[in-house]
Amino acid sequence: MNKKTFFLIIWIGVLGYSSRISAQNWQAPADAARLQNPVKPTNESIQNGQQIYGRLCVACHGIHGDGQGPAAAGLNPKPADFHSKAFQSQTDGEIFWKLSKGRGAMAGYENMLSEKDRWDLVNYLRDLSNEKIKKALSGKVMSVNHPQHFPFSYAGLNATTSLVPQGKMAFVIQHRFGAVKPDENALRNFLGLDLAANTRLALAWGLTRRLSVEIGRTRYGKFYDLTAGYDLSPWTGPKIRSVFYASVAVMTDRFTPVGDSARFADGRPFAYTFAHRLYYDTRLLFSYAAGKFTFQTGLQVDWRNLAPPDGPGPNGRGLVRETNLLWAVPLTVRYKSGLRSAWSLDVTPTGRAHTFPFSLSYEIVSSGNHLFAITLSNTDRILPVGQISHNHFRPGKDGLLLGFNIIRYF
Ligand code: HEC
Repeated sequence: MNKKTFFLIIWIGVLGYSSRISAQNWQAPADAARLQNPVKPTNESIQNGQQIYGRLCVACHGIHGDGQGPAAAGLNPKPADFHSKAFQSQTDGEIFWKLSKGRGAMAGYENMLSEKDRWDLVNYLRDLSNEKIKKALSGKVMSVNHPQHFPFSYAGLNATTSLVPQGKMAFVIQHRFGAVKPDENALRNFLGLDLAANTRLALAWGLTRRLSVEIGRTRYGKFYDLTAGYDLSPWTGPKIRSVFYASVAVMTDRFTPVGDSARFADGRPFAYTFAHRLYYDTRLLFSYAAGKFTFQTGLQVDWRNLAPPDGPGPNGRGLVRETNLLWAVPLTVRYKSGLRSAWSLDVTPTGRAHTFPFSLSYEIVSSGNHLFAITLSNTDRILPVGQISHNHFRPGKDGLLLGFNIIRYF
């Protein structure tokens, strides 16, 4: 028998065996069922289980543990739904035994994970079906136990790779105070929200599974903006999420009047070139989740109709003082500091000198449908194109801007 035939026979054997077991219930032995769980289901244990789950199990078992992971499509038998009664009616010992031994496509994790890690996984799988959490999960955008990547569509200054789920609506408030300096007025101004440098209100809808739209209105310049976000994650796999955003914004406020003495750099008298200011913004964002950290990066390309056409310079050469085409590389790191809280840091290197927006935020999630984030940043511009097209406060000199984001999903 040559090698090929040998493997063919083995393969047929494996297929035959796996189709045979698919017909059977998977039963753990009786002594496994009696095994006591030595690890208490503390937050620490559940969080560790959740992290391992996010790393090793999510591809098949799905973010929500419903067996709908991207790699599950071709599997037979299908991965279990951890919310099902059939699954949850097993003892901790049976679940522990199954994930240790494996069967068919389901690997045994006995040699890959420590005993403690495997019990943590059991605690996490139990927690999935905990009544309180199940209730929080039903119809909720995010369960505190499923913070893969970004659960919400904003982190600090940046949009994230999370879109509003299909059929859901989100109400967004982004508020930036004026520069907060540690002087005697700071507290008075802060408490009265008197320093409204900028505010944006927005509504977003999840139109389809992949597509969401958002309409916003910003106090500064009375901008109206329309954004579409398209989820590219099915093409980037479960580890990397990706979203493409395209937005357009129009300023409906009048331009600031300028005096007669205002000149372009080449000496011509200044005049606004456009009746309205328009912004176009496109962003391609990628995020990668690793344990408690989520990293996001991408490319942002913007156009605005602000700069006058290049006039001839003093030596007859083109004069480029301003550019209408802008680019930036938004970077976000998010650190999940607790079951319901996270820190995130945004920095956005841009193609322009002296323009380097950043923000540091602390977010708290409540009940799976609310996010409250307090943020410290060096810009009062909320629209992405505004952030990379304006110079920023110099920390220390001009102070920093305090603000908050509130997102409520319906
Ligand atoms: C390659 C896909 C895949 C991965 C990765 C995977 N599983 Fe599974 N899992 C399955 C499949 C398929 C089954 C059903 C197996 C069967 O019934 O023969 C299963 C079954 C199980 C069961 C038993 C469910 C029951 O019906 O009682 C548990 C528990 C389980 N998986 C836990 C895990 C954990 C924990 C991880 C990560 C450490 C993991 N799985 C990773 C595919 C996978």
